Parts: sequence; C-alpha cells; structure tokens
Amino acid sequence: MEFTEPVLLELESQRRSPAAVAKRDRLMELLRPTPGERVLDIGCGSGAFCRELAPRVAPGGSVVGIDYASAAIDIARRLSACADRSVLTFAEADGHDLPFAAASFDAAVCVSVLGFCRNPAQVLAEARRVLRSGGRLLVVNSDEDTRIYNGRDRELGRRMARAIADRSNDPWLGRRIAPMLTAAGFRLEQEAVLVDLEREFAAGTSGYALAHFVRDYLLQNVGIAEADYARWLADLAACALDGSYCYSVVTYACLAVSERDER
Ligand SMILES: C[S@@+](CC[C@H](N)C(=O)[O-])C[C@H]1O[C@@H](n2cnc3c(N)ncnc32)[C@H](O)[C@@H]1O
Repeated sequence: MEFTEPVLLELESQRRSPAAVAKRDRLMELLRPTPGERVLDIGCGSGAFCRELAPRVAPGGSVVGIDYASAAIDIARRLSACADRSVLTFAEADGHDLPFAAASFDAAVCVSVLGFCRNPAQVLAEARRVLRSGGRLLVVNSDEDTRIYNGRDRELGRRMARAIADRSNDPWLGRRIAPMLTAAGFRLEQEAVLVDLEREFAAGTSGYALAHFVRDYLLQNVGIAEADYARWLADLAACALDGSYCYSVVTYACLAVSERDER
C-alpha cells in the first residue's frame, strides 16, 4: 500500500477524532512517557503520536519520528512546525534498518505499521537493538479479520470484509503481536484490547473513509465487480438510514520490555 499525501492527510484527520484522541490517551497510559526520555516512533505517518509525546518528555527528552514514506515526513514536519526542534525531529528511514546506534532510546512505539512491513520480526529486532536494556516498546496493530460492517447482504459483506482484510500481509497480526514480541526477545508487560465502534456512516468516520478508500484496490487487485462494490456501499448507506449501521475493529496494544544481559 502506498502512503501518499492524500492518504496520510485522511489518516491525520481521523487521528483528530474524539475516539482517536481517547485511544491515544489509553496508549499513553500504557507507555507512560516521562520527562527526559528519548522516544522513537517507528512509522510515524503524519506525526500525530509524536506531537502528543513531545510535551510529555520535555524538558530534557526527545522524540524522533521515522517513516519510509517521504510524504509522511514532509507532512509530519509541516504539522509540527510550531514544535521545539530540540525536542521533536523527523527523519526518512526504514524500520527494517534503523539509522541509530544501539541503546539510543528509552522507549519506542510502532502504531499501525507492522502490518505493512515485509518482515515484522526484523522491525522488532531493530527496535530491540536501538532500545537500552529496560527500554519499553509499545506495538499497536488492528486485527484485520475483526474488521466488520453490518449489512443486509451477508455474503456480499463477507466477501468485501475478507478482501479488505487480505490487503494486509498478515490479517491476524493483531492477535499475534504478543508472541512475536516474546520471540524477538522482549518481556511482555501489558496487553490491552481496544475496540473501535462506529454507528455513523459519514465523511470523517473511519468506516466510511475505509469503505471509499479501498475502491480502486478492490476493483483492480481483487477483481470485485464495480456493480458489486456499488451494491455494497448502497447496503451500508441503507443501514445508516434505518439506524442499523455498524463498523467495528479490534486493536491489540502490547507493551514489552527489552531486557539484555549487558555484562
Ligand atoms: C497506517 S500508517 C500509521 C501512521 C502512524 N503510526 C499513526 O498511527 O498515525 C502506517 C505508516 O507506516 C509507515 N511504514 C510502513 N512500513 C514502514 C517501514 N518499513 N519503515 C518505516 N515506515 C513504514 C507508512 O509509510 C505509514 O506512514
């Protein structure tokens, strides 16, 4: 999937919704950043999480957001123009090969990124390398096969849900984060399950944005007929009209600690 400027700006507007802000607050409770800490955001996108982190690590701390999409870094820098540059910086980099020395950070976050990585285990290994011993890593990812819409045509809905889930390299990644962290040498400290739920099918909601955003992918890559896609959208709109619309997805958030024998 290509993270272009329009995709990232849409994501940024979703990240400003009250539900997304509440979710970020919950993630901050898990990570518990403190003043003076050096924090890395792997796959920072438009930088929403970094901007939330920066005041929490000041004074004395720093936040670095990295992303392999140059459009993401451009947007993150633009939206963070007012931030103190001694605290918040961004760099173009790949999570599979982080341009930082070992033990450079006290904490790292990786939110909705692993599902897009060709080798998630390598990204976790890199995160472990750049974290000091005792450093925390917060990994957050939705479980794509839990993403559901209500509709009247169940078979059509199932076909669409499956095609949307299969865009991800691993549609079951969410439920697998905890064992992946353990396999990468982390100690799992806390695991939380967060559920997004929407009852409104309108611009600005995640379910609406996703349903429209996947159009080209479904038609070009999965071979869904345009008429079926249109029928599915109409089904969702009809549910919105009669009050039965529902969109939900389960996200797993895992906080793990990197422990190394440094003798
Ligand atoms: C769904 S967005 C999430 C952005 C941000 N973490 C957030 O939650 O708002 C996924 C981001 O991961 C980035 N990404 C995917 N694979 C990456 C990789 N191997 N290294 C760095 N960034 C990556 C994409 O460019 C994109 O900005």
